[in-house]
Amino acid sequence: MEPVIGIDLGTTNSVVATVRGNRVEVIPDPQGYRLHPSVVAFVPNGDILVGHAARARRHVDPANTIYSAKRLIGQSIKNPIVQLTLGTLPYRVEEGPNEQALVVVRGRQYTLPEISAYVLMHLKQCAERHLGSTVTKAVITVPANFTDAQRQATKHAGELAGLKVLRILNEPTAAALAYGFGKALDARLAIYDLGGGTFDVTVLSIRDKIFEVLATGGDSFLGGDDFDRTLVERLAAQLLEQSRIDLRAHLDGWAKLVMGAEQIKCQLSRDEAVAGTIHDLAQGVSGQGVSLDFEITRSEFEAMIAPYVERSLLACDEVLIASGQSPQALTELILVGGSTRTPLVRRRIAEHFRRDPQTRINPDETVAYGAALQGAALTAGASNPAEFYSLLLDVVPRALGIAIAGGYAEAIVEKNTPIPVERQRTFVTSHDNQTLVVIQVCQGESRKFTENAPLGTLTLEGIPARARGEAEIEVVFTVDTDGILHVRARDVKTGLATQARMQVVGAPEKRSGEVPSVNAPAVPRA
Ligand SMILES: Nc1ncnc2c1ncn2[C@@H]1O[C@H](COP(=O)(O)OP(=O)(O)OP(=O)(O)O)[C@@H](O)[C@H]1O
Ligand SMILES: [Mg+2]
Repeated sequence: MEPVIGIDLGTTNSVVATVRGNRVEVIPDPQGYRLHPSVVAFVPNGDILVGHAARARRHVDPANTIYSAKRLIGQSIKNPIVQLTLGTLPYRVEEGPNEQALVVVRGRQYTLPEISAYVLMHLKQCAERHLGSTVTKAVITVPANFTDAQRQATKHAGELAGLKVLRILNEPTAAALAYGFGKALDARLAIYDLGGGTFDVTVLSIRDKIFEVLATGGDSFLGGDDFDRTLVERLAAQLLEQSRIDLRAHLDGWAKLVMGAEQIKCQLSRDEAVAGTIHDLAQGVSGQGVSLDFEITRSEFEAMIAPYVERSLLACDEVLIASGQSPQALTELILVGGSTRTPLVRRRIAEHFRRDPQTRINPDETVAYGAALQGAALTAGASNPAEFYSLLLDVVPRALGIAIAGGYAEAIVEKNTPIPVERQRTFVTSHDNQTLVVIQVCQGESRKFTENAPLGTLTLEGIPARARGEAEIEVVFTVDTDGILHVRARDVKTGLATQARMQVVGAPEKRSGEVPSVNAPAVPRA
């Protein structure tokens, strides 16, 4: 019986779990840590470290220690929010083909799927070591609002790591599976997931073993990293005032300040105020280490992060409306993600949803737990007992549309449509003897095409030469259970297939099939 692993591939931390016997096990690294930092460090001697060993190098060698890759994977480097993110990262990123971001480390370029593949390989190795057997199958989770390109790129990363990706599963849906497993429930849940880099909110109903997503939404650039950044900016301004040193010019010092800020933030979740010193941030004129003395209260910090928390609540309102549920009609409110430990977040959500959140769930592990259960469900009857069977009905997170005349977008698949889904559109040629049609595709709900996120270009080729308006091509758009778009086309008159090529902005160049592998970093011995 070959095991299936469930992987929560996080911006900050990843978690891997599996079903063994009748239980879900969260798999530790050789040191016993159950949270694996999603960090890849390229060491001068050529070694590649992942996890805690890599995280420790973030302030030692920031230019060659890659973190927060999930903020860039499957994104167009031209996306304004990606550009903002790049300004905060200490490693080098360049533009590659298809508007992809490429990470440059020690003179070599890496795609984001390659970077994430190192993290996934590390998790695979931890699992193999823990289980004492080869692992080749996985379910990998992504934020519900991940775009087509982000999903494709994540799946590609799994393949590069030598994993057959049985399913790309939405993180909140995985959390719901973990919550509902083994209980005979008739419930409506809201899942609020605030991690390091992304925010997701999903409303689902559970009846027997059927998990149905009613609506989902969120913000792929909202998370604990933003809390850290506001704190770093305040601390840097304070340092400038105290010591006349502008830390933005000191890469190592800045990285140290970011890590210091994260610690202060976490401490403020426990204590009302934190005071202390961050040592050796830079070198003073006479070579002495420059330190920063700080003191910050929880209420000061809360005022700084309040706009982010309110932004998340706006997304909650939209999702509640789309789901047709009122806060009172919900059975349970579930918090996922490390940033939901922030007292302001807990307080504001409780006020907003008019109920206390469920606290029995481990916010760090629940997504991987659900992914492991889904892995078992997908192989139920084959390698797992039928009791693991469950049916997931997920939805399209954003409308899928095409450009039409006048700068408008026409939706092909509406937001929150259950997947898998298939939709057809017929296109006609506008010139005589036209053999090629190019259609711009976007994701988003705006009527104006440019107000949506560009998804890519659909090219229909080899259309039979006929008078204008005579050639009719029927295009079938399919969104599969991974939330990934596929297109196929045929000539209406002859019924013959027409070549349809979808080039997705920011997606990996190689679609599944030919997969170059990356070398596995070694899992350190215990
Ligand atoms: N006690 C705490 N108080 C506040 N924030 C915390 C606490 N513990 C962890 N965090 C924050 O939680 C975030 C990491 O959460 P998590 O591990 O759920 O994210 P992730 O899964 O890596 O990210 P994502 O889901 O966005 O991809 C970090 O920003 C971390 O600083
Ligand atoms: Mg997460």
